[in-house]
Amino acid sequence: MDSATPFAHASEAEMARILDFYQVRWEYEPHTFPILWNLDGAVVESFSPDFYLPDLDLYLEMTTLRQKLVRKKNRKLRRLRELYYEYVTTVSTAEMAISWELSAWLWTWLERNRPASVLDLGSGFSSALFRLWQETSGADAFVVSADTDPEWLAKTGAFVRNAGFPDTDLVAYPAIRGGPWDLVLFDLADRESRASRLDAVSQLVAEGGALLVDDIDYPPYRLAVDEWVRRSGWSSSPLPETTDRFLRAARLLQRPTDNPDQPCG
Ligand SMILES: C[S@@+](CC[C@H](N)C(=O)[O-])C[C@H]1O[C@@H](n2cnc3c(N)ncnc32)[C@H](O)[C@@H]1O
Repeated sequence: MDSATPFAHASEAEMARILDFYQVRWEYEPHTFPILWNLDGAVVESFSPDFYLPDLDLYLEMTTLRQKLVRKKNRKLRRLRELYYEYVTTVSTAEMAISWELSAWLWTWLERNRPASVLDLGSGFSSALFRLWQETSGADAFVVSADTDPEWLAKTGAFVRNAGFPDTDLVAYPAIRGGPWDLVLFDLADRESRASRLDAVSQLVAEGGALLVDDIDYPPYRLAVDEWVRRSGWSSSPLPETTDRFLRAARLLQRPTDNPDQPCG
């Protein structure tokens, strides 16, 4: 390593040491790319990636997590975990609620994608998760939870109220106002009945929106969803990281954007 290199951040010096250790040749900020021009065509913003690795023809950009943000994120996840434990021990069971694995995946997905509208089909812990995200993300998202079972809807209402969230926007399926939705979680009623509802539920998803399908490990349902995906032309991503101790897993289906110039609703 060239000790005279004026790194802007200690993490960059550390990365240079790691690259040296593995004998990967590097150059520090050798190239600058214009990324924004004004109407006269003059460059008003440019970007210099931290490292260029000439043997790999690869650019590296380092970012560090700000400790304050990490602490804030950990606090939210801790609250989510507490709510989960309370829900599966006092209201329902771990086998009926969405898994902790899916909850953690969903939380990260929400933080990354910041949907403007969420439809939670199959109320329960997911209803509390979406409301915690709604309250803490600053994303001003519209969240509605729906259920086929009025008794369960009332139990969910009591749980979210006791947890300090508003118990509004809990409705009887299929009487749902609003939509189409950027994210629909499809975890409604028993898994045997879900395939027959797939067409109707998919209509609720906005162009470019996502349909998160739980319990895809159940073989007849998985086959039906596979067949539906083939027919519909939606994209489908397996989510192995959502597999829990009951071997339940989810899948993310994405509705194509028919007109790419149209913003997703
Ligand atoms: C798989 S559950 C939905 C779970 C929900 N998304 C959650 O995160 O807890 C599907 C439906 O089963 C019903 N349900 C949920 N928990 C239940 C329980 N412990 N016993 C009986 N029915 C339940 C509700 O009507 C719910 O909509």
